[in-house]
Amino acid sequence: MTNDTAPQSKPRPAIARHRAALGGTARVPGDKSISHRALMLGALAVGTTRAEGLLEGEDVLATAAALRRMGVGITRTTDDDGNGVWQIDGVGVGGLHAPDDVLDLGNSGTAARLLCGLLAGHDFTAILTGDDSLRARPMGRVIAPLTEMGVQTSSRDGGRMPLSVTGTADLLPIEYVLPVPSAQVKSAVLLAGLHAPGKTTVVETMATRDHTERMLAHMGAALEITETDDGRRITITGQPELNPAEIHVPADPSSAAFPAVAAAIVPGSNVYLPAVGMNPARIGLFDTLVEMGADITRDNPRETGGEPVADLRIRAGSLKSVIVPASRAPSMIDEYPVLAAAAACAEGTTVFEGVGELRVKESDRLAAVEAGLAACGVAVWTEEDRMVIQGCDGPPPGGGEIAANLDHRIAMSFLVLGLATENPVTIDDVRTVETSFPGFIETMCGLGADMAANSTEQTA
Ligand code: S3P
Repeated sequence: MTNDTAPQSKPRPAIARHRAALGGTARVPGDKSISHRALMLGALAVGTTRAEGLLEGEDVLATAAALRRMGVGITRTTDDDGNGVWQIDGVGVGGLHAPDDVLDLGNSGTAARLLCGLLAGHDFTAILTGDDSLRARPMGRVIAPLTEMGVQTSSRDGGRMPLSVTGTADLLPIEYVLPVPSAQVKSAVLLAGLHAPGKTTVVETMATRDHTERMLAHMGAALEITETDDGRRITITGQPELNPAEIHVPADPSSAAFPAVAAAIVPGSNVYLPAVGMNPARIGLFDTLVEMGADITRDNPRETGGEPVADLRIRAGSLKSVIVPASRAPSMIDEYPVLAAAAACAEGTTVFEGVGELRVKESDRLAAVEAGLAACGVAVWTEEDRMVIQGCDGPPPGGGEIAANLDHRIAMSFLVLGLATENPVTIDDVRTVETSFPGFIETMCGLGADMAANSTEQTA
């Protein structure tokens, strides 16, 4: 992280090169989206929520730290196998305390936007900030509905952080049609609605991940969901008591995407990924890989804590290009950079349609993917909100030096590409990989990948 409040560390370069087929089993860390929500909804429950499998990456730890600063007791113990078990002592809906310092959310857009929703129903002021990447991201998309509900905010430079949020105990329930398909905005409004008297409704014309709805329902919130001609209407009746829950967090499909694509593009690979979340609103990447000809099987489909899960086996094969329709974007919004690695190895021209949202992620991902693929000798161009990638029908040249721009998924995607290219791929800085996939390089090496990073050096 490069923000002033965190210890400064030096950029950590990394390299990946093709060596041999990947094989074996990899345990992918817990789902980032579900982990944030387990902490936040656990914080609002009356009683103690227990979460197993929680992602212990920097993004989720930032949420835990912010909640602790507002009076929530959060502790971590370990089970007999040494895995983390998190206990969240909820303070009840509307029961947070004013934080005595700025809330630093590091690299995490989900932490920042969902916390705005949580803060909306609290009669105090909190100031939110983050690292260089997060402070450049738009917050106007959550400020707009929360302002309608009566929240006062003040922000830098047209809706960027630092952002001060002053909530109110007299929130107005609203009906809000999402102008962008964003689960973060939907969740912020629903979390605010939980604190408002009466019914708050969010309408989404394109379905986005529904972990907030699933967990709210699991914890006893009054939620109605109807599919209409105008889209999906989600209505929450505010000011109930939430029940504490036992939450088993599945492996993150967005993290499983990296070993999955690596297995699909490195010839001869055969990789097994147990207990991966299979929420239909999250698995667009796997559907797309199968459409490209990848050999993926889903074994033992089951449910844990209201979320579908399966064990995935991925075997390498030859891939064909694909046109990914805009309608699929919400179900794989974080997976385009790693899909670009697969497209670079495929036969034919792949097109990603309707991917303008990628410009406002942890970095401008369209620009980063375009620059990175070009540096690896792959023909690629963007046309407004479309990206076109000319596949190499086999190993791309590689050899690129990639700027990760504080973006964990750009760093991991190009490391994956480097496992299949003729020449090694280097990344200037992989520090942010710790936000979502702690131990990524070790996990990939465990599958036989030739990947390495410089050791971490603290400068202050
Ligand atoms: C997330 C929603 C998505 C996704 C992000 C996590 C969530 O963002 O990109 O990594 O947990 O709700 P948007 O809501 O901006 O699409």
